[in-house]
Amino acid sequence: IPQGTDLRAEIDRLRKERNAVILGHYYQKPEIQDLSDFVGDSLELSRKAAETDADVIAFCGVRFMAETAKILSPEKIVVLPDMDAGCSLEDSCPPAQFKAFREAHPDHIALSYINCSAEVKALSDIIVTSSSAETILSQIPRDQKIIFGPDKHLGGYLKRKFNRDMLLWPGVCIVHEAFSETELLKLKAQHPDAPIAAHPECPPYIVDHADYVGSTSGILQYAKTMPGDTLIVATEPHIIHQMRKSVPDKNFIGAPGADGNCNCNICPYMALNTMEKLYLSLRDLQPRIEMEEGLRLAAKKSLDRMLELAS
Ligand code: 13P
Ligand code: SF4
Repeated sequence: IPQGTDLRAEIDRLRKERNAVILGHYYQKPEIQDLSDFVGDSLELSRKAAETDADVIAFCGVRFMAETAKILSPEKIVVLPDMDAGCSLEDSCPPAQFKAFREAHPDHIALSYINCSAEVKALSDIIVTSSSAETILSQIPRDQKIIFGPDKHLGGYLKRKFNRDMLLWPGVCIVHEAFSETELLKLKAQHPDAPIAAHPECPPYIVDHADYVGSTSGILQYAKTMPGDTLIVATEPHIIHQMRKSVPDKNFIGAPGADGNCNCNICPYMALNTMEKLYLSLRDLQPRIEMEEGLRLAAKKSLDRMLELAS
């Protein structure tokens, strides 16, 4: 990239030239959120990807999200600025092991969190996101046995809330796992009137202190309606950028990790996307998500079930 390139202007130029839409997750860097055509949670971004009439989707998020866009919009070119932008939950669930787990429990259906590979989606019956999991679970008959993967914390939260017996895959999100209960309680003691909002990927010792538990879009909505003027936010701290934009008169504090600050809770995968890499991905239309058609169709079944049941 030539020195002095105005990346923002070049991205805008390429977006028009390519008829591209830029989709950004709330965990992206502020400069990427600000230039995205749409910023949202996993379910909203899937819906946008399925609906768009753009020729190119530049997905500023992680690989399973860009794969979901490709599964739902196969005729589009889908680029991910950095192909190494994975997810610890996806890594925790190798398809061959998941297949064996399913086969060991033939009378169970597999409800899977969208944070998994296309192969695991193809082995699943219904996909859920954190914003749709409760609506979808409540439509599954109580006597239906369920395997839930790969996030044991989201699964555990749903089990407790709905009093349902589900078999959990033991995966975790390394980002939400890094919050410290001791540090959270110290912070709460300094701001006794501030409610705590937590993502359900957090361990139970964090979720149990929360006044609100929900997806990124749910937490953002809570920030707009919550009592008081200060909120403690137990999810990836880049979402605070969007909160400050939507609710400028309130104060948002990221929940701390063991070192007492919230920097250890930055998602290292999401952080791989940069303005430079976004520019290059629009210029070169690479790195591109490609998928074998048989796998795509198999994975699409469980995603279509999600889109049907979530609405
Ligand atoms: P949501 O935005 O759907 O709440 O998901 C959070 C997340 O961890 C994405 O990787
Ligand atoms: Fe995966 Fe956690 Fe990063 Fe989300 S925040 S992409 S669940 S590692």
